[in-house]
Amino acid sequence: MSTILHSPPPIGIFDSGVGGLTVYKAIKRLLPQENIIYLGDTARIPYGTRSPVTVQRYAQQDAAFLVNQGVKLLVVACNTISSVALPNLQAQFALPIWGVIEPGARRAAVTTRVGRIGVIATEATIESNAYYNAIRAINPELVVISQACPLFVALAEEGWQQHPATQLIAQEYLAPLQAAQVDTLVLGCTHYPILRTIVQNIMGPTVTLIDSGECVAMEISQQIHQPPPNLAAPCTHDQFFVTDSGRRFRRIAELFLGAPIENLSAVDIWNNPETIPTNNQ
Ligand code: DGL
Repeated sequence: MSTILHSPPPIGIFDSGVGGLTVYKAIKRLLPQENIIYLGDTARIPYGTRSPVTVQRYAQQDAAFLVNQGVKLLVVACNTISSVALPNLQAQFALPIWGVIEPGARRAAVTTRVGRIGVIATEATIESNAYYNAIRAINPELVVISQACPLFVALAEEGWQQHPATQLIAQEYLAPLQAAQVDTLVLGCTHYPILRTIVQNIMGPTVTLIDSGECVAMEISQQIHQPPPNLAAPCTHDQFFVTDSGRRFRRIAELFLGAPIENLSAVDIWNNPETIPTNNQ
């Protein structure tokens, strides 16, 4: 397998698909000089409706691919993987591995004024109680109200940020959180920042939205030494890999990043880990 050479070693980010690009974007904004390798397991998305055992198996294969690329640290952008597989990954691989749950929980716990925090995420993340446990470990007096919003993933990928259907569905999902009068709401899924405006409008201006991807980016940037800004223009060589055809990823990536992506390759991470440029796929 041909390993991509980077100097200095890149940061590895992985997700079940395209959603982790919201985390990529947050990290890139704070650490523009870092090289990043991104893997989206587009052949097996969604992870959010699968059992923990299956997500753990998939996550192990995703992480192994990036570790073989020589990354210096791994960011598990996917909330579902972070919820059910992070301890397994940290036990299996000898490099720093960051998930998104703890950083999001830490920020939510210090943000709430009334002590009531809402969490919206995939079914698997909510069923794992990962956010609930992480928030209550910080402060057992905090009340956590959780709500799975599985349709949000498809709506975000459709680009229906302002669509009436999204408005209706969001009102339905968010009603219990409004009734519980939360003042802080964790966007506990990679896709949800795309629907941020509609969620904020429904919840109202007094509710603070917490983007876990931004929180992990902030914590990582505090750990990584960066050259002084403006010393040299950022010159990075980011690489994007997908496990299925790149066409859909490329289209949705533009929506998530607001710019086209370059250096996209398809890779079979199970049988034949050679990469194939996806320009024509
Ligand atoms: N990336 C997943 C997450 O953040 C959402 C998409 C999926 O279900 O795989 O939970």
